[in-house]
Amino acid sequence: MTQDDVPQGPADPFATAGFETRAIHAGYEPDAATGAVIPPIYATSTYRQDGVGGLRGGYEYSRSANPTRTALEGNLAALEGGVRAFAFASGLAAEDTLVRAACAPGDHVVLPDDAYGGTYRLFARVEQAWGVEHTSAPVADLDRVRAAIRPGVTRLVWLETPTNPLLNVGDIEALAVIAHDAGALLVVDNTFASPYLQQPLALGADVVVHSTTKYAGGHSDVVGGALVVRDTEVAERVAFHQNAIGAVAGPFDSWLVLRGLKTLAVRMERHCDNAERVVGFLTGHPAVDQVIYPGLPEHPGHTVAARQMRRFGGMVSFRVAGGEEQALAVCERARVFTLGESLGGVESLIEHPGRMTHASVAGTDLEVPSDLVRLSVGIETADDLLADLDRALG
Ligand SMILES: Cc1ncc(COP(=O)(O)O)c(C=O)c1O
Repeated sequence: MTQDDVPQGPADPFATAGFETRAIHAGYEPDAATGAVIPPIYATSTYRQDGVGGLRGGYEYSRSANPTRTALEGNLAALEGGVRAFAFASGLAAEDTLVRAACAPGDHVVLPDDAYGGTYRLFARVEQAWGVEHTSAPVADLDRVRAAIRPGVTRLVWLETPTNPLLNVGDIEALAVIAHDAGALLVVDNTFASPYLQQPLALGADVVVHSTTKYAGGHSDVVGGALVVRDTEVAERVAFHQNAIGAVAGPFDSWLVLRGLKTLAVRMERHCDNAERVVGFLTGHPAVDQVIYPGLPEHPGHTVAARQMRRFGGMVSFRVAGGEEQALAVCERARVFTLGESLGGVESLIEHPGRMTHASVAGTDLEVPSDLVRLSVGIETADDLLADLDRALG
């Protein structure tokens, strides 16, 4: 089977429809045999052939393609405005596949200097051993990103915006120009914003990365990842590597993410409403030294965020007066905010990045402040969240 034969779902009849309509309908048409409005979970590894090579709809083997995954990939491509999307077993599996598709040993990548710890670890401990070097630069400083590029050697400029966990903001449009001038691709990890709040491909990015574990899935019940690409040549390379490496999303996981995406818009609106209430409560609280949220006018990336995001998202970080010990105590006292890693689910989570999600960058340039607490603000009753924080802050 060539890559051209891999099933890609129906052509998108909702291309000009609104985001919510695309989220609910794109990528799948009611099942021809039964009319089922939701794609079945095709728990099958292989497909009966009508004579040797006589594939039905192009399906041959579920690493190469599976109809439930095809539906998710069609939906993601429609939501991000890409030519094609690819679903993986995790966000990091998606990232690794992209690096192998776009780079070769000897190549170089520019990373955010406060990238998600797992992304940094992937580059520092896995890609580097494979011969792909990296340099870290602050996403908000265009000159330092430009200076970090090695002309002719840098293949990818990697952007997270907002970043995890310091919520720095990078200017997607400006960084796309810088990357393209140097012959590199701009990759945007859109996990924190989700396609509802931010559309990197429309702003000039070449590839969007997702940990679909987060807002896309939205219910903390699945681990998954995705790549969405803007051009067919990159799509071909990713398609080949997705099948050749094989870190694909299984059918049940694909189904969960697809179900989550249908409600992404309404969930994101409530995440943003609640985050704004939380930010208002924390600002000026005597136990809080600093609140970090791109929606605050004093946030250094506020103007760029206001230009490229619909709203400012559900992630809030803050620095606790009294240092690390107090920050840890706040995390442990919270009850409605569950102490745990991850983010983007309907339930609120609280964590200490220095000891939890970002422990892998301790002692590096990417180390995060020890008094930092990160909140993933869920969609519970806002008053209950404020009361819980009040109690936790003591
Ligand atoms: C911004 C960001 N990118 C990528 C990842 C990696 O995704 P996964 O945990 O699904 O492998 C994470 C995980 O927390 C993340 O927060």
